[in-house]
Amino acid sequence: MSEQPLLTVTIDNITVQVPAGTSILQAARKIGGDVAPPAMCVYSKLEGSGGKCRTCLVEVSKGSEKDPRPMPKLVASCRTNVMDGMEVKNITSPRVTDARAGVVEFLLINHPLDCPICDQAGECHLQDLSYEHGKEGTRYEFQRRTFKQHDLGPYIQLHMTRCILCYRCVYTADQLTNKREHGILDRGDHSEIATLIEKSLENNFIGNVIDVCPVGALTDKTFRFKNRVWFLKPENAHRECPDCCGKVTLWNRGDEVFRVTARKDEWGEVESLADGSTAWICNTCRFEKKKSSDWVIEGPRKISRHSVISQGHYEGKVGTTVPTEIFSAVHGGRNPKLLMDIHSVSEVNRPEIQLSQIAGPSTGNDFTTGKD
Ligand code: SF4
Ligand code: FES
Repeated sequence: MSEQPLLTVTIDNITVQVPAGTSILQAARKIGGDVAPPAMCVYSKLEGSGGKCRTCLVEVSKGSEKDPRPMPKLVASCRTNVMDGMEVKNITSPRVTDARAGVVEFLLINHPLDCPICDQAGECHLQDLSYEHGKEGTRYEFQRRTFKQHDLGPYIQLHMTRCILCYRCVYTADQLTNKREHGILDRGDHSEIATLIEKSLENNFIGNVIDVCPVGALTDKTFRFKNRVWFLKPENAHRECPDCCGKVTLWNRGDEVFRVTARKDEWGEVESLADGSTAWICNTCRFEKKKSSDWVIEGPRKISRHSVISQGHYEGKVGTTVPTEIFSAVHGGRNPKLLMDIHSVSEVNRPEIQLSQIAGPSTGNDFTTGKD
């Protein structure tokens, strides 16, 4: 059989060659970095995903070599395939930047501003997107949607107000478990994820909906409010599991395992294994194996996300590696200098009180009240 010729596509002035059938989004991910559009609903491991959220819009400024006319409207890059000679603009298009800001505004219309108490903070794609494209205020004047609470069983917590209706969890339940009990009910503004007759989702692979959810709508009940993800140390680990691949990421603090997740790649998708299958994990590995002794630790995991979650996580010998750049090295040989002593200049606390040395929490007596 003769090999299929590769198609040439130029995205943000960078040219790549990809096989026929590749979407613009996949081609852009091949280039990587900022050229790859954000994507909240498409998930390459789930059939039928994509085309729902519109965050991946791009401008096609040249359709193909044969038909160079530009496409009149912005297109969803996850659902539009590359043509030979196509030219695409993502970050180089003001139209795209403007449209993306509009999409983010829509996604946030009903989203609660509860990042400070949301367990997804630090690894939420909507949070990242809002920082990059969001506006400071909202033009929405109506009440945000509220929903009747649904209990999804002992492991999974649903916060419907945070859901962006990306359908990833529905496809996961559909394609990974042999009986799907939840889906999207109703239409338009009333649409919601719900279990039919409020059945709990008991399938052994249903925990994977937590990993695919791009926001904090589906979170792990066994981990909620226990710790912030950026305080935890991710490590690759494995165990002999009769049900799944047993290859996971443990999220530890000290020796304590706080959370177990599947291993995710730089696009936030569960990784592929060497045999091409996806490294989905079972509920037993995810929710029941919370002791270090349950696992064979492989080593620290690199977190490729650019959000706060990747700060302070070092590959190599965790705990024994010291930064090679010291202050004087990055400041042209100058050593740090004490510029001011906050206690001598602060007018907030009583000057005779060293806040760092008082036993227990500080009280009103430790501060000047303005009435003295
Ligand atoms: S719950 Fe999460 S994964 Fe499911 S549709 Fe909503 S945002 Fe998507
Ligand atoms: S990622 Fe393309 S529409 Fe959602």
